[in-house]
Amino acid sequence: MTDAPTLFVLTGAGISAESGLGTFRDKGGIWSKFDPMKLATPEAFAADPTHVHAFYNARRQNLLAAAPNPAHAALARLEAALEEAGGRLHLVTQNIDDLHERAGSRRVIHMHGELLKARCLHCEEVVETRVDLSTAQACGACGRAGGMRPHVVWFGEIPLFMDEIETALLEADLFVAIGTSGSVYPAAGYVGLARRAGIPTHEINLEPSDNAHLFDGADYGPASEAVPVFVERMLAELREG
Ligand code: OAD
Repeated sequence: MTDAPTLFVLTGAGISAESGLGTFRDKGGIWSKFDPMKLATPEAFAADPTHVHAFYNARRQNLLAAAPNPAHAALARLEAALEEAGGRLHLVTQNIDDLHERAGSRRVIHMHGELLKARCLHCEEVVETRVDLSTAQACGACGRAGGMRPHVVWFGEIPLFMDEIETALLEADLFVAIGTSGSVYPAAGYVGLARRAGIPTHEINLEPSDNAHLFDGADYGPASEAVPVFVERMLAELREG
């Protein structure tokens, strides 16, 4: 089949909520309990790296104890089916967890970095890590201590893979946003970019997001239920050609 579509899927914290990883802006969300300006900025890390490490170390331990849910699994099935049919799924996530990969997604673009990676501020080397980070830790590449930071994007920093993401978005036949409040740019602007390019847009979220008015279609409900239903619909359309 040659007319299988190319999908661009943007995911946010809502897709991992039912795996036990907190969202940010919901009632009781991470940023209602912690001040992001004291934890998720380069200035905060420079001022109190031990405090920042403790926050991300706890989140890393949570992640290692968590498992993907049916929403992650459904997107992995969709990626495989689209590729088999000659189409493509571009999966871009704002999440720093690895639940898409663990569910079987093969190509995931982490625009806000990855919790299971650390980066040395002295030499920029990026390494995988499953253990707690500390200021005492020396970089395996340059040997200097004190520079290991979580390889995540903080407020005031530029998200990763911006050019690649925009190119992928503009070749899509359908833009889908899942579990994101639509309040953090540049990701929040992608639905507008898709619309301007004439690409149909669809939202899957627990409730209408801040950008709900920009979507042509929507499914509202918990991601673990709504995403598999959406994927089954896409797979049925694929089978029908
Ligand atoms: P938010 O916490 O802002 O939004 C999560 C969205 O998921 C909300 O719209 C919820 O309604 C929805 N939601 C919650 N539970 C859900 C469920 N079970 N099923 C489906 N949807 C559900 O998270 P993001 O939009 O991902 O950045 O936040 C974007 C960025 O802000 C994050 O990547 C992070 C944060 O600050 C950085 O740390 C740089």
